[in-house]
Amino acid sequence: MPKSTEYEAKQPDADGFIAYTPEENAVWADLVARQMPAVRRDMALPYLDGLAKLDLPTARVPQCPEVSERLRELTGWRVEPVPALIGFGRFFGMLADRTFPAASFIRKRKHFDYIEEPDIFHEIFGHTPLLTDPAFAAFSQAIGQAGTRAEKPDYAWLIRLYWFSIEFGLTREDGRLKALGPGLASSVTELPWSISDAPQHRPFDVIDILRTPYRIDIHQPLYFVIDRLDDLFAAADRDLLADVRQARALGLHPPAYPPKEEVA
Ligand SMILES: [Fe+2]
Repeated sequence: MPKSTEYEAKQPDADGFIAYTPEENAVWADLVARQMPAVRRDMALPYLDGLAKLDLPTARVPQCPEVSERLRELTGWRVEPVPALIGFGRFFGMLADRTFPAASFIRKRKHFDYIEEPDIFHEIFGHTPLLTDPAFAAFSQAIGQAGTRAEKPDYAWLIRLYWFSIEFGLTREDGRLKALGPGLASSVTELPWSISDAPQHRPFDVIDILRTPYRIDIHQPLYFVIDRLDDLFAAADRDLLADVRQARALGLHPPAYPPKEEVA
């Protein structure tokens, strides 16, 4: 998450609806149209099934209450608009309460292909399909619950787990790598990169993930592959704070990416 943003939260009305402008709705429509061919080709079935179940509007920005109504029936989750940047404490608390915090603004056209901070296209198009999946929903809540019991220095460790499993996870279908993560579903360039031969692919392993540093502003040099989604149910039952203590004792892996100043 960047430390500052030029975007401001859009305020919902008393019913939770946000008045998007015609241009903002057009940006949503164009983002969906641009992303769908790659999504159909490279995203995994749990994501595609979730997208079909949600039946999101394609010509305008979806509204959180309408997405929440569908999610509530499926997994008990809901989506709530929040400012562009929120603290980790609030983030974990909302996940623990099966509430997904959604930045409410949509990117401007100058950021059409890439925006560092999450916007509503990333939040709704990227995240909410997976929240229809019971294993993802359970693991997201488990990370939130661990976060509400964690000390502040533990936050960065838990966020790595969220990053590599929920945000940028991969899986395999019929022997072929497929993407699961919202960070990939909403990125036209990182989606094909993630399942190409260029990055490293490592098996899903909670301790290994906790020890793996990342940068938010580059395509990931390595991804973790969740072969069976039931592994997320098992991970949701772990004592994740005990895992953080173990990972701390073992220490961070050396970064798989170059230092920031060396990147053009
Ligand atoms: Fe995200």
